[in-house]
Amino acid sequence: MRIFVVILSVFLFMSCEVASSKITSPDENIEVNFFLSQEGEFYYTINYKTKAIIDTSFVGFDLKDAPALRKGFIARVKKPVEVDERWEMPWGEQQSVRNYYKEVRVELEERDDLKRKMNLVFRVYNDGVGFRYEFPEQQNLKEVYIKEEHTEFNLTEDYKTFWIPGDWDIYEHLYSTTKLSEIDAKSYIAHTNLAQTYIPDNAVNTPVTLVGKDGTHLSFHEAALIDYSGMTLKVDTENLSFKSQLVGSRNTDYKVKRTTPFHTPWRTIQITDNAPALIESKLIVNLNEPNKLGDVSWFKPMKYTGVWWEMHLGKSSWDYGMELVDGKWKDTGKAHGKHGATTENVKRFIDFSAKNNIGGVLVEGWNTGWERWIGFEDREGVFDFVTSYPDYDLDEVTSYAKEKGVEIIMHHETSAATETYEKQQDTAYALMQKYGMHAVKSGYVGKILPKGEYHHGQYMVNHYNNAAIKAAKYQVAVNAHEPIKATGLRRTYPNIISREGLRGQEFNAWSGDGGNPPEHLPIVAFTRMLAGPIDFTPGIFNIKFDEYRKDNQVNTTLAQQLALYVVIYSPVQMAADLVEHYEANPKALQFIKDVGVDWSETRVLNGAVGDYVTIARKEKGTDNWFLGSITDENSRSFELSLNFLDPNSTYEAIIYKDGTDAHWDKNPLSLAIEKVQVTKNDSMNINLAQGGGVAVSFVKQ
Ligand code: NOJ
Ligand code: CA
Repeated sequence: MRIFVVILSVFLFMSCEVASSKITSPDENIEVNFFLSQEGEFYYTINYKTKAIIDTSFVGFDLKDAPALRKGFIARVKKPVEVDERWEMPWGEQQSVRNYYKEVRVELEERDDLKRKMNLVFRVYNDGVGFRYEFPEQQNLKEVYIKEEHTEFNLTEDYKTFWIPGDWDIYEHLYSTTKLSEIDAKSYIAHTNLAQTYIPDNAVNTPVTLVGKDGTHLSFHEAALIDYSGMTLKVDTENLSFKSQLVGSRNTDYKVKRTTPFHTPWRTIQITDNAPALIESKLIVNLNEPNKLGDVSWFKPMKYTGVWWEMHLGKSSWDYGMELVDGKWKDTGKAHGKHGATTENVKRFIDFSAKNNIGGVLVEGWNTGWERWIGFEDREGVFDFVTSYPDYDLDEVTSYAKEKGVEIIMHHETSAATETYEKQQDTAYALMQKYGMHAVKSGYVGKILPKGEYHHGQYMVNHYNNAAIKAAKYQVAVNAHEPIKATGLRRTYPNIISREGLRGQEFNAWSGDGGNPPEHLPIVAFTRMLAGPIDFTPGIFNIKFDEYRKDNQVNTTLAQQLALYVVIYSPVQMAADLVEHYEANPKALQFIKDVGVDWSETRVLNGAVGDYVTIARKEKGTDNWFLGSITDENSRSFELSLNFLDPNSTYEAIIYKDGTDAHWDKNPLSLAIEKVQVTKNDSMNINLAQGGGVAVSFVKQ
């Protein structure tokens, strides 16, 4: 281990009141210390309740056509400030969020020659730390070409780590659970169905969650990813450390291009004593700027059904059977008759939604271009986002939906042909506005065009962000699939409502690797979900769907599918199964009909990463509470206190639980429904089957 001499004399303190090279969280449990080495390198450490969490960790940047920014610094420390404010989520896991932190700015300047400047800003919360780099406007640093960011996170323990590989193109991977010292992303075999994947190094993507022997929980991620590349974390298994590795491009020999002044995204470490507190942490959204869109009441959180699962099951298809003749799509009479997005079929979904308190219907495969979708190299100029197939009448569908009080959700599969999409965005969003459509699901399946770019590099970060900002001008909210990771930007641009960015339900329909195992979502709740809302698309009732795909199934019980409406947060929550599968089980459907989709409060009642989690949420605008609990492949029993319920109130609890013989594989449909009267003084015994769950509606009497 290298020994560093701390030369405090090179810190110049701007204020005589606070002459310190450390900052603590408001509750003083987290302490961040910062130093300069003899060579003028900046490094920091973090302690949590006196335990060293992050040991000597250096920072710096390698630049193109300029010396690295890594050493030779002097430092000035600004007087720390404490902020304690509240802000309101227009929709979310809770209505009001406390943003409570201490902040310090450390101004670094090169001692000699170029005298370039770079600041580090630390915000220390009771539930973790965020820091970012600011590059002020200056003479000797104007255009900045970042070849690599070197932010170190040197850990002090061989943590149990829940990780997906540092893929530059997609997050749709199963989580591995290993010791930090055993992470081996290079040996991870990516799913063969992925239309894009690139894992260049032994690195992990974020959020990555670590559990210590004493129960300390850490999760590393980033906040406010704007005009920069996504960060993966390179793993040093010997020294138990992570180091930032930015996503690059094959078209440039740098990873980020910016002009001063600018700042990087926040590098974040959530630090808690237990797993539930990780989910309750609002660090990531708090580190983002306040709402820049103002009134966004044109979007309403909603459940939705859609022409979707049927394509994944192979019951119908996205494409119609058109042909591309001289660059134009023509109906040459070769329609195969399996097209899913027909006026008639969509009306079925509208009727069903209207009858079941479901606000939206997603229609995939409505527009021309699907004949040249997956597997084609030349995808620019193929999809058209305003022209529907001959058997889909947009006028008729939207006016029928309006009559029934249901909103049609638009679908834009870009096939990662970004230039085609950018060219058409204005007309496509204007079309939506004309029809009163306020939400679009976008998709980016395939290798990015222009060639050489990756889904998670700076080019695409800008594409995703610009699409959302442009959509907002047309009162359109965005739910991107194959997206860039969520980094809390929904605070600034609330129209970024949800996204995929994980192995979603679709893998259960067609993956040849057994689908998502029962432990998948009990890991996702403590990893991916810390980043933000997930469009997972729960609610599959016909778990085995033998009629369509005998070799595939959902690996949970039916009760767990219901519980997911509460466990997974998203302001758009799909009831993903086929209408006929819901109609065959009206008793279970009642829960989907009743369950809220927008919350004033959230309580994470228990949980262990990768094992189980129980969440209670209070519906905004009613006094009803809903509870969801899910487990992995192990059965479990809990006694849950209902003390989250409102005082002096009686509720009718409708409990949808695994039958005594339920099992995710052997008997997934075994469901028992029970009604009891409860108050906050009661407790509830719940038994989860293997791969099972419980969903409860608490209706105030
Ligand atoms: C992949 C998305 O995740 C899925 O939901 C969608 O149906 C297909 N792409 C087609 O866009
Ligand atoms: Ca996907």
